Amino acid sequence: MTQDELKQAVARVARDYVADRLPVGGILGVGTGSTANFFIDEIAKIRDRIGGTVASSEATARRLQGHGIRVLDLNDVDAMGIYVDGADEIDASMAMIKGGGGALTREKIVAAVAETFVCICDASKRVPVMGRFPLPVEVIPMSRAHVGRELEKLGGTPKLREGFVTDNGNLILDVHGLSIIDPVGLEDHINQIVGVVTNGLFARRGADVLLLAAPQGVETYTR
Ligand code: A5P
Repeated sequence: MTQDELKQAVARVARDYVADRLPVGGILGVGTGSTANFFIDEIAKIRDRIGGTVASSEATARRLQGHGIRVLDLNDVDAMGIYVDGADEIDASMAMIKGGGGALTREKIVAAVAETFVCICDASKRVPVMGRFPLPVEVIPMSRAHVGRELEKLGGTPKLREGFVTDNGNLILDVHGLSIIDPVGLEDHINQIVGVVTNGLFARRGADVLLLAAPQGVETYTR
């Protein structure tokens, strides 16, 4: 199976998960990225059951609307049953690195509101120790150099994501060379650096459910 076929397979399982567990008319959070895009195409088939969605990026909002799926402002939502999104890496504690698509801040906000975070990815994303994938950090533009120096003190090599501006008008520093043995501690530490909006570690609020696509089928893990 190709990686895209694995992503499609897990997107179908996630669609069924939502159809089974989200109350009719409930609110669904929708992530960003290539796996999330397959999921969006799948939930178009069950859109009449979904009361509305909250998008974690402008790109996701456009794709949802293209399928005729209602997109709501998070501020108009009191509760969200399920949030479905991909990950760049996920470890055994269900902590993740996210933000390869640059949507980490909105993703973290949507995840904070959702009752259940369902991570969908292919088996290549599951790792014993995170850090091979560069950790994205969203920064206020004037703080770029300061934050970069602070990240170097942590042993990482930050690189500016060239030509990229987030949906919030900020920059991304991708931090290479980290070996993340304490995801919660590092998430907290980086978020304390002045000028950081947030970082792509989702450890304090990790996934509740992991749907992992492997050639032999989609496996389900729960926290
Ligand atoms: C977007 O900002 C990311 O957090 C994505 O969820 C993550 O990069 C996974 O993307 P893919 O599904 O494209 O691998």
